[in-house]
Amino acid sequence: MKGQKYIFLKIVLLLPPPNFKDVTMTGKLTFTMIKPSAVAAGHAGDILAMIEKAGFRLVAMKLIHLSRHQAGLFYAEHNGKSFYEDLTRFMSSGPIIAAIIAKDDAVAEFRKLIGATDPAKAEKGTVRNLYGKSITENAVHGSDADATAEREGNFFFSSIENV
Ligand code: CMP
Repeated sequence: MKGQKYIFLKIVLLLPPPNFKDVTMTGKLTFTMIKPSAVAAGHAGDILAMIEKAGFRLVAMKLIHLSRHQAGLFYAEHNGKSFYEDLTRFMSSGPIIAAIIAKDDAVAEFRKLIGATDPAKAEKGTVRNLYGKSITENAVHGSDADATAEREGNFFFSSIENV
């Protein structure tokens, strides 16, 4: 009996903490960052208002100044690309707002709201069209798939921060 309890406890301790919600939330969550230039220019409130008006619910949020190393880890998939150094320098140049947000079909719906990566090509009225300055300083990041959203959300938030 005592042995069984010990094995059960061992299994529980070995399981990873469920931080980016459970499988029932798949497709309903995405991850975003309001980038340093947009926060510094005082656009965070307007961008968050656009996000809420578009029907997203805030699930987790924090203001954080990333180190160059942390920015590099977050954007590791771009390591080696021509824009990687500029991107990580920029993303660690000042505070950002990181958030997990919820809506049906969250990833696609959010990408529609923010527009194309390059603000010059983003549709009128989208977040990047309104607040982006260049392809690097494009106001906001949005996850490109459910699996990416999960990884990126877990990069910033633990289970107790994810409501
Ligand atoms: P983001 O959504 O944060 O994801 C990766 C970032 O790389 C992207 O927004 C851009 O800010 C930045 N970036 C810089 N140059 C390019 C490029 N040529 N193609 C794609 N992304 C780029």
